[in-house]
Amino acid sequence: MEFPVIVESASKSYDGIRDVVKDIDLQVEEGEMVLLWGRNGSGKSTLLNLIGCIDLPTSGKVIVTGKDTSKLSPRELAKLRLVRIGHVFQRHNLINDLTVEENILLPLKIARDREAGERAKSLLATFELEPFAKKKPGEISGGESQKVAIARALANNPSILLADEPTASLDSKSCQLVLDAFKRIREGFDTTVIAASHDPLLYDHIEKKYFLFDGLLKTRPRDGA
Ligand SMILES: Nc1ncnc2c1ncn2[C@@H]1O[C@H](COP(=O)(O)OP(=O)(O)OP(=O)(O)O)[C@@H](O)[C@H]1O
Ligand SMILES: [Mg+2]
Repeated sequence: MEFPVIVESASKSYDGIRDVVKDIDLQVEEGEMVLLWGRNGSGKSTLLNLIGCIDLPTSGKVIVTGKDTSKLSPRELAKLRLVRIGHVFQRHNLINDLTVEENILLPLKIARDREAGERAKSLLATFELEPFAKKKPGEISGGESQKVAIARALANNPSILLADEPTASLDSKSCQLVLDAFKRIREGFDTTVIAASHDPLLYDHIEKKYFLFDGLLKTRPRDGA
């Protein structure tokens, strides 16, 4: 698939009055890594949630792996999310009653992965999370839970990885682990990575950038952004 993500004139309003993203046109190629850059409230998470099938556009289209998300049933949307999309949420969204290891195992079990246990162990190792495997999200630090959220998003080798502020709580060593993991998944699985961030490190590492200003997507930065 040449363009796993196609957004066509998409807008989203939460209140029926103000569009928080407006008339967005975006095509992202297979294996490409792009950065969405913009101030607080500019619409980055909203756009990621449209691509991630968490929300549907109020107008326009979002086409993910060839499927128009507005035309899918809730069950089809859930399947698309499970099989194709890894989503690192800005607030991590870990399940508090499950351990770190169980959080990473969850998407693997739902997808009936026969090697779920081994895969979870390998992700724990990749992100240096083994010491926390049996702890609950409430018992680990912000950066540790960010890495758990990233490991969980990578579990099913998604075709599209959506990473909302993935390095916000990480030190430079953990940032490097995350960048290396993104590189491996792109090289190994042709995964398309769309990250939203304010992190200068990601800005320096990701060549293709889009800039959101008050819900409008631009290909160039504006002074003071
Ligand atoms: N569920 C919601 N209901 C109503 N308004 C919302 C909702 N989610 C976001 N908004 C509003 O939409 C606008 C865009 O929010 P969004 O979360 O997409 O911004 P962002 O660029 O991700 O910001 P940040 O850098 O702070 O994460 C903001 O004005 C926000 O208050
Ligand atoms: Mg956000």
